[in-house]
Amino acid sequence: MTEQKRRQLELGFSAQGSVRTAQRAAHREARESADHLDLGYARLRQLYELGKILGAAEGTVSGPDALCCLGQTVPLRVAMLVETTGGAAHIVAVRAAGVDDGEVEAAAAHARTCVARLAGVASLEQGRLRVEDVTLPVAPRPGAAGRSPFAAVPLVLERRTVRGALYVRGAKALGEADLAFLSAAADQISLAWDRHAAWQREVQLRERAEALDKAQKELVAVVSHDLRNPLGAVLLGISTLRRWPQLDAGKVRESLESMQRAAERASKLVHDLLDVARLDAGRLQLDLAHEEMAAMVREAAELMRPLLADRGLACEAQIEEGLPPVLADRERVLQVLSNLIGNARKFARDGSTVSVAAWQQEGEARCCVSDEGAGIAPQDLPHVFDRYFQGEHGPTAHGAGLGLAIARGIVEAHGGRIWVESDQGRGSRFFFTLPLAP
Ligand SMILES: Nc1ncnc2c1ncn2[C@@H]1O[C@H](COP(=O)(O)OP(=O)(O)OP(=O)(O)O)[C@@H](O)[C@H]1O
Ligand SMILES: [Mg+2]
Repeated sequence: MTEQKRRQLELGFSAQGSVRTAQRAAHREARESADHLDLGYARLRQLYELGKILGAAEGTVSGPDALCCLGQTVPLRVAMLVETTGGAAHIVAVRAAGVDDGEVEAAAAHARTCVARLAGVASLEQGRLRVEDVTLPVAPRPGAAGRSPFAAVPLVLERRTVRGALYVRGAKALGEADLAFLSAAADQISLAWDRHAAWQREVQLRERAEALDKAQKELVAVVSHDLRNPLGAVLLGISTLRRWPQLDAGKVRESLESMQRAAERASKLVHDLLDVARLDAGRLQLDLAHEEMAAMVREAAELMRPLLADRGLACEAQIEEGLPPVLADRERVLQVLSNLIGNARKFARDGSTVSVAAWQQEGEARCCVSDEGAGIAPQDLPHVFDRYFQGEHGPTAHGAGLGLAIARGIVEAHGGRIWVESDQGRGSRFFFTLPLAP
């Protein structure tokens, strides 16, 4: 073979070789860029699907569905949505097949640390960890693997507050493109949370407006009915006295007494309505002092004894020896006791006994007003403390169903509790607690 021929062959061989290499490289590049295009397209679709999932249920963000959606194109071992409320991190987690509880819990602990760092706080309390019974899909892994084993992308409310994070651990290390995709997904979730918060605010406002409307209607009903009746009685009495000035002294006294009772009823109702308005506005002012529970119970019993005697009812007070003082507003506690004893008077059986007891239990003072009356029907028990509630017996001659609602407001403003136990046909026991003075 001539030198020239050999050279040509060599060149040909090498030229052919380099053409093949170049062709292979070009093929690989074309395949990779097609893969990338496919992946890019799949991820755009995934973002679109995510938008649909997040927008579907108004008021809730479907965590597991959203996390599974991300797993369609990013191969993941664990994916989590972390939400921070009240200083604690609550987590909804989804895992791939074969990932055990230990790995999920380790990831959750890491996620909490990441969120605390993102939110700029020292640490977050454990909160709840809900591992959903859904498995992450197995995603193909085109393209080169990246360097990051995990990603924690902040979820930001109203572009200001970090309220949680989207946390994932990849099946292989995550690359730049994975992180960009996860970041876009986190933006979508943040927007969904914003929408959810706005929706909740709207619901609250609507509920408040409805409650105000209801309260206004109830007020009009009470004023037009319960207040008009006693005022009508007073007006009738006045016109009777004016028309017949020569009425005998007994009749005049009777008429004046009935007018006084009617005026007192009207006055009590106005006071009760004012108390309800104060409780609504959170303006019930308490004049707190160290008070002897025993003294208050005795005073209320003495005050009510003549009224109870009117109905032939006896009144008993049982006070535990050495009951320590309570931190309370004396006048308001007397008002609660009068309301409860007044009710016992209304509903007790003729000739029976109304008892008031006070003792110390579980670090607080307890008081019980009990009667031997008709008791309260089981279906009424949950409602007796509701405003304007009156039982089956229908509206009593006096009363608008406000006494117990006010008593509850007063007791709760003291930091206490009030409740009732009743055996129908045998009587009722109303209990309330007050904090002991420090
Ligand atoms: N000791 C009791 N025995 C039986 N039922 C009671 C007793 N106390 C309260 N109730 C029931 O609970 C309802 C609400 O009581 P509440 O004190 O709030 O209203 P009221 O006494 O009817 O009217 P007001 O207290 O405004 O004068 C009563 O109407 C009655 O049905
Ligand atoms: Mg009452």
